[in-house]
Amino acid sequence: MSSGEVVLRAESVSKTFRAGRGFFRGGGLHAVSGFSLDLVRERVVALVGESGSGKSTAARLLAGLYAPTSGAITLAGRRVSVRAPGARRRYASHVQIVLQDPFSSLNASYSIRHHLARPLLLHGNAGSGKRADVEARSAALLEEVSLTPGRDFLDRYPHELSGGQRQRVSIARALAVRPEVMLADEPVSMLDVSIRLGILRLLGRLTAERRLALLYITHDIASARYFATEIAVMYAGEMVEYGPSEDVTQAPLHPYSRLLVSTVPDPDRAAGRGSDTLVRGEPPDLTRRLAGCTFAPRCPFAMDRCRQQAPPRFEPSGGHWVRCWLFDEQEA
Ligand SMILES: Nc1ncnc2c1ncn2[C@@H]1O[C@H](COP(=O)(O)OP(=O)(O)OP(=O)(O)O)[C@@H](O)[C@H]1O
Ligand SMILES: [Mg+2]
Repeated sequence: MSSGEVVLRAESVSKTFRAGRGFFRGGGLHAVSGFSLDLVRERVVALVGESGSGKSTAARLLAGLYAPTSGAITLAGRRVSVRAPGARRRYASHVQIVLQDPFSSLNASYSIRHHLARPLLLHGNAGSGKRADVEARSAALLEEVSLTPGRDFLDRYPHELSGGQRQRVSIARALAVRPEVMLADEPVSMLDVSIRLGILRLLGRLTAERRLALLYITHDIASARYFATEIAVMYAGEMVEYGPSEDVTQAPLHPYSRLLVSTVPDPDRAAGRGSDTLVRGEPPDLTRRLAGCTFAPRCPFAMDRCRQQAPPRFEPSGGHWVRCWLFDEQEA
């Protein structure tokens, strides 16, 4: 799929939620279906799509927080299973997730010192483990995320920091385990617009310096273009398009991606119309499996075939594929 060292690979991973007997008639809610993705060292892949398209579920599968209903996840070529005792922690030392809301992911009753010392000690990255050593390493982590001087932040509490500073602490905490993979689930969407770029630049710098494989989840395809090397577009739990960021944003193939790109926030356009409302028609019902393409009910170009048969991948140009019958060469 991509050149470079693949660290984490998802192969045809699906997640179906079953809640309460008979609650989801027809066998559950298909949050993610047939999800395949490679995360490569020193590269950023963006996962974009509207609310409910399965981005966070995909991230939680990759983070080992959910077991896949089917399919496989491999870390450096080895099949991941987090069911065995201790396996979760071992896995977390390779793969870390950073969430949208740094306030709820930090514990209000603990100092920043505690938030960093814990993973350092737990994952054996605290040197001698003595107080001075832990403190020096915690301060160094804070400086790595541009909270300087690091020591000045150690005895503060989450509520004493700004939103951007809190997100930097969350990132420092993730770095404390020395992961190879970082999964950032909308890391800037709750932050003030003016500080988003700073956090994205930080994640970009860390990707290079720490040789991370980074997954960047966002609604905002414009930031994905700026920040990611590749973009994967999700719709109704399925990846419908994948390719180099420039290609996906400048020449999107899938009708859904074209809509996403055309609805990029534009100050000249009427306010308050997000990508979620501009795609006409009903949001997809994830408890029903359609025979054909999941986007067909909302697609302005849908043909009979689209309602009958799910499209396979077509790759009209190298490394850029789409799941859409419009690109079937045989048909043209
Ligand atoms: N634990 C769960 N139990 C049942 N259904 C769930 C669960 N988690 C997510 N879902 C459902 O799975 C679908 C995908 O949700 P997910 O949170 O992955 O979407 P998302 O793309 O991250 O959306 P957003 O952009 O709003 O964060 C949604 O229909 C959601 O309601
Ligand atoms: Mg989400």
